[in-house]
Amino acid sequence: MHNQNSKNITVGIFDSGVGGLSVWKEIVSLMPYNNYLYLADSAWCPYGPRPQEEIIERARVITSFLIGKGAGIIVVACNTATAAAIKTLREEFTVPFIGMEPAVKPAAMNSKSGVIGVLATKGTLNGRLYNQTVKRYANGVQVVEREGKGLVSLVEEGKLSGVETDRLLKKYIHPMLKKGADQIVLGCTHYPFLLDAIKQITGNDVKIVDPAPAVARHLKEVITESQDYQQGQNVLKPEETTMFYTTGTLETLMRMARRIMPGIGDEKFNAAKI
Ligand code: DGL
Repeated sequence: MHNQNSKNITVGIFDSGVGGLSVWKEIVSLMPYNNYLYLADSAWCPYGPRPQEEIIERARVITSFLIGKGAGIIVVACNTATAAAIKTLREEFTVPFIGMEPAVKPAAMNSKSGVIGVLATKGTLNGRLYNQTVKRYANGVQVVEREGKGLVSLVEEGKLSGVETDRLLKKYIHPMLKKGADQIVLGCTHYPFLLDAIKQITGNDVKIVDPAPAVARHLKEVITESQDYQQGQNVLKPEETTMFYTTGTLETLMRMARRIMPGIGDEKFNAAKI
């Protein structure tokens, strides 16, 4: 039920860079009828090694920017920013926030070998959210964690395969496979772009778990239940429903967004001076 003043929702999505596009993609395909704003904080990317306070401050600035552009709900499409900042954001802003959940629960439940791998940034692996999730859901399951150092920058540069990408992925994934992991959780939204390269290493018997579809479904539930908003009703083509902003170079964001949706026009990409 929506009240009389409810209005079509605009969903704001942000990430340290282009990684959150892996979440945006799931959201747009589930709800093509909404309007979207996507902000890539590529000038500050990677967030992983940054102090928590710095990430919180970026998350504040970005949230204010997206709300200023009309966002009524914010998806923190970045595991590291979720770990560092979502609690503060919920305290300081009135709009609802949807964050990334490390998909440890489904991986642990579905593991037959009793060993799962988690690939994430240092900020995520050290965060309370992740450690609570492991404690709660990985009971009796061995969790092999690896910091995917360097991977975020490679994705930003569009190096989704090649010698360097392969070398780093092997370095992080081989120890998981050696211990018998049959599920590998992608705990950073940049990593789904490396799926093909990852599968080359793991083969088909290891399940690669990406939380993005679950986050999209959760967003849909929150919007559906909201009194203040209703699903958008636009009939635009999916290429037309999102405005993109970046603090970095436009080409980086254009390249990755168009990998997913080739028809997005130049006029949809904007520089954000924040
Ligand atoms: N996509 C971000 C995440 O999910 C990358 C973090 C970073 O910039 O290091 O964690």
